[in-house]
Amino acid sequence: MTSSIPSRRAPLVHVERLTVEYRQGGTWRPVIRELDLTIGRGEAVGLAGESGCGKSTLVSLLLGETRPGRRIAAGALRVDGHDLSTLSPAQLRGLRGRRIGFVPQNGGTSLTPTRRVATLLEDVLRAHRPELAAPARRARAREQLAAVGFPDPDGALQRFPHQFSGGQQQRIALALALVSEPELLLLDEPTTGQDAQIRRALIDLLVEIRRQSEVTIVFVSHDLLTLSDLCDRIDIMSEGRIVESNATAAVLARPVHPYARRLVAAVPRLDAPPPWRNGAERGDGLLPGVATL
Ligand SMILES: Nc1ncnc2c1ncn2[C@@H]1O[C@H](COP(=O)(O)OP(=O)(O)OP(=O)(O)O)[C@@H](O)[C@H]1O
Ligand SMILES: [Mg+2]
Repeated sequence: MTSSIPSRRAPLVHVERLTVEYRQGGTWRPVIRELDLTIGRGEAVGLAGESGCGKSTLVSLLLGETRPGRRIAAGALRVDGHDLSTLSPAQLRGLRGRRIGFVPQNGGTSLTPTRRVATLLEDVLRAHRPELAAPARRARAREQLAAVGFPDPDGALQRFPHQFSGGQQQRIALALALVSEPELLLLDEPTTGQDAQIRRALIDLLVEIRRQSEVTIVFVSHDLLTLSDLCDRIDIMSEGRIVESNATAAVLARPVHPYARRLVAAVPRLDAPPPWRNGAERGDGLLPGVATL
């Protein structure tokens, strides 16, 4: 698909006074309420908020998904200049996967178990990069696996998802989201329920991917430490609205909304640096005074 970017400087995501409702019983109930959100190209935004405030609904809408029992009641939702509320299901499918990649919660374990990694990746390319012939598809699949940290991509392509560890499966899920080179990568609590080492590895990988590409990232997580190393900005959502949006360091230093304050208060801190750290450079990307988990 050729690019139809109206202007390189236009924001990639522009949501204006969006209201979205779910049908419950016989009535429509608003879940997203007059929400405004603008994300520039190449930005990485962390999205946090209490359970049920509408984060996954927003991600699903940005992904161009439609659901029975859900409607856009008002406002506009633009990705790359396309108003998603006006596109046909076929146009939305084209956008999803090709322009927008998605890593769901438990993305690793949701991989189709009966298909080799090569088939999974090549299916995405067949759907979203039809211009690529079979050898180019295989080369692109191999390149993407290497980019998410598989030292032997040819060997990995031949294996089935269950033959990988949890962390490796998560990296395969990330490779599937990135293989068609989307402009926007959405991750909805991809590290929930996983140990600190796997969380850390995913963040390091995403930081590296940001260094090497211009991909724009929206990362939903309750874990401020995870967000702080990756994201330029943290947006706090409450009851269907963005109630706080600021540079990551500012949210961590001066959280304003009560939920943001609770999240920041939950981040383990060291009141005083341990003696062996005195005078030492931190160099681990964490904020001063924030302990590693
Ligand atoms: N298909 C649906 N039908 C009716 N209501 C729904 C549906 N999906 C979600 N909701 C409601 O919409 C609200 C927002 O849900 P959503 O999944 O977007 O929240 P969330 O912020 O992602 O929460 P969590 O942190 O628990 O994942 C909730 O009140 C939920 O019950
Ligand atoms: Mg959710």
